[in-house]
Amino acid sequence: MNDFYMLLGVLAASAVGLWAWRRWHPASFWYGVAFPARAVLVVLTWHHVASGCKLTRRRRRWRLTLDAVPVVGPAARNAATVVEHKRRMRRVDVERAPRLGVLRPTRLGWHMRVRLHDGQVPADYERAAEGIAHAWRVHSVRVVDVKPGRVTLWATMRDPLTEVAVTPETGELLRVRPGKLENGRDWVIDFRTVPHWLNAGATQSGKSNLANAIIKGLAPQPLALVGFDLKGGVEFTPYAPRLSALATTRKECVDLLGDLVGELENRMTLCREQGARNVWNLPVALRPVPIVLLIDEVAELFLMADRSEKDEVSRTGTALLRVAQLGRAFAVHLIVCGQRIGSDLGPGVTALRSQLSGRVCHRVNDPETANMTLGDMDPAALDAARAIPAETPGVAVVAGQDGSWHRARSVFVSEDQAEQAARDHAHLTPAWDALIGTAPTTPPALDSAA
Ligand SMILES: Nc1ncnc2c1ncn2[C@@H]1O[C@H](COP(=O)(O)OP(=O)(O)OP(=O)(O)O)[C@@H](O)[C@H]1O
Ligand SMILES: [Mg+2]
Repeated sequence: MNDFYMLLGVLAASAVGLWAWRRWHPASFWYGVAFPARAVLVVLTWHHVASGCKLTRRRRRWRLTLDAVPVVGPAARNAATVVEHKRRMRRVDVERAPRLGVLRPTRLGWHMRVRLHDGQVPADYERAAEGIAHAWRVHSVRVVDVKPGRVTLWATMRDPLTEVAVTPETGELLRVRPGKLENGRDWVIDFRTVPHWLNAGATQSGKSNLANAIIKGLAPQPLALVGFDLKGGVEFTPYAPRLSALATTRKECVDLLGDLVGELENRMTLCREQGARNVWNLPVALRPVPIVLLIDEVAELFLMADRSEKDEVSRTGTALLRVAQLGRAFAVHLIVCGQRIGSDLGPGVTALRSQLSGRVCHRVNDPETANMTLGDMDPAALDAARAIPAETPGVAVVAGQDGSWHRARSVFVSEDQAEQAARDHAHLTPAWDALIGTAPTTPPALDSAA
């Protein structure tokens, strides 16, 4: 009896211990207890799950079977039915599940490789992903990292995008961390890898919040920020202390774009003289200041009230396209925000869009906008963009130039926070006139950051 009470006591103590461990240190509990238990369950049930999701294949295999053989002869005459069981080797149909690789834990779930059966394609697994997620009782399963004959399944236990807490500042030049990706990793925008970004979405979907996060992340860096805000300046005027230039009318935009094209030509000449292919190959002392141009509501740039504006609109479009084409090599970067950016806005818009290789698609009202923003991506990315609910502003589908895509959410950065960052780093703002002059205007801090 004493032993029984002792056993009960030990069990109760371990249950409380596990509860406390999970409560106070969930990360180590996940790696130490919950993940190994999950892994065993996933491996043991994989055959059933794969069969339920129609991922198994029938194969003919030799098996030892137990066959019932009717007995004939004297014994059979004495009994109504007499059978004898005999073991036999015979070929039978068996169901084979795709072979699983090792399960590797992540902070929010796990990932594992799966070997495709002959004749299977990654799309079969994309179709089955929702079913697998339900069978494993996880938030989502995504097919990533497709290699010939193999896919990686990435399972996430809970939606990591309900609460996002990151700091946009990375401390590295032209890199910002505006939010989190669905797989639990940081969402990092690196303008040196993907130079221009399109930030699209319906009204109130979180475009300006993302712009705020990017401004907050870039403000402490030795670079120039330029704003085009054709909503009368209401969005970007609060950040004016950190902006080298702010245009709020189309006339001002055209003038600033003219200056920018001139500056790009200066940079081109400098690189040619120094025998460099881009500004990053120049000696540090000669390297010009990177410029990041933020455009809010790009459609306003292309809208015309009457034909007299046609000339100005087409000049704006051409200059913007030139900035996009040349900016990549000469450290001028674009972030173009808009509800939609389609060919209906005018000639040149499609060409501009194709230069914006980084894509962020917030919640959209119609499938065409998702198609327009994400281009000919995986159809699952378009579905994910269309499924973003209105009550989670800031959630977006992010696509880089390598064809991969992620669900992500920007961290909430209020206007006050972005404004404060702009004021705190106002001393880093290069003057526009000095910036577009021919003399290199590298501030000393750039040397260490670059
Ligand atoms: N990541 C986020 N987390 C929490 N709330 C957010 C997030 N992003 C945006 N919001 C909230 O959603 C609302 C709309 O965001 P925002 O102003 O950025 O939308 P928008 O796309 O710029 O809209 P519009 O087209 O009208 O300018 C804001 O009130 C903001 O507080
Ligand atoms: Mg906005």
